[in-house]
Amino acid sequence: MIFGAVLAGGKGTRMGNVDKPKQFLTIGGKPIIVHTVEKFVMNDKFEKVIVLCPEQWISYTKDLFRKYLPDGSRVEVIQGGAVRNETIMNAIRYVEENYGLDEDTIMVTHDAVRPFVTHRIIEENIEKAQQGVICDTVIPATDTIVESRDGAVISAIPDRKFYYQGQTPQSFRAAAFKQLYQELTEEEREVLTDAAKVFVMKGEKVTLVQGETFNIKVTYPYDLQLAETLLGGEKKC
Ligand code: CTP
Repeated sequence: MIFGAVLAGGKGTRMGNVDKPKQFLTIGGKPIIVHTVEKFVMNDKFEKVIVLCPEQWISYTKDLFRKYLPDGSRVEVIQGGAVRNETIMNAIRYVEENYGLDEDTIMVTHDAVRPFVTHRIIEENIEKAQQGVICDTVIPATDTIVESRDGAVISAIPDRKFYYQGQTPQSFRAAAFKQLYQELTEEEREVLTDAAKVFVMKGEKVTLVQGETFNIKVTYPYDLQLAETLLGGEKKC
């Protein structure tokens, strides 16, 4: 079985002083989280699309889906965790309790604040994960990456062609993630917020799925304006 996990457990602190976490802010007259979940609901390979948000926003999120998602019967809203990977673990626990976990249980995890993910990207994630391949969606780095260990002086300028920017979805077998995550120490769990890094740290091969430059993560107020513009372009397509 294939499950979508839309990660909306964050507070969006970099968005500044707004009245709700950024995933609930509106672009094109609809909350960002609704745009994102629509992309998942469109794909009928998902048994369920699990949306994970802060506890105090659960009923609000359910109300949003009742209002905006006529085809929301496969969407479940549950509580996220304190850090991003804990949110993923909550999704895995939910699946385990309600459906059981086996080798073919696949999770396609995605940031709720990346509303421009495409059908092609989701399909490629599913396809790879079904072949037992762990995958991460990326785009080639466009700017030169400059490393500085002290924040003042350059320590290295690596060759850009070997560098990519991580996006989501990140997809894998749920049981494999659970097992590796449980092996991490408390400190590692707090630091390792990226799911792909959990696999990389444990020596597992993670393959690349080509993302899109427009698959942006809404992080700062500027991104809201950009998202409005991108949405205009998406509607014209
Ligand atoms: N996320 C989550 N659970 C957490 C933390 C983050 O599900 N405990 C989700 C966010 O809701 C978001 C995605 O992970 O959809 C990407 O994280 P990020 O952009 O860092 O979101 P926030 O943590 O909300 O933002 P900030 O760091 O600005 O507070």
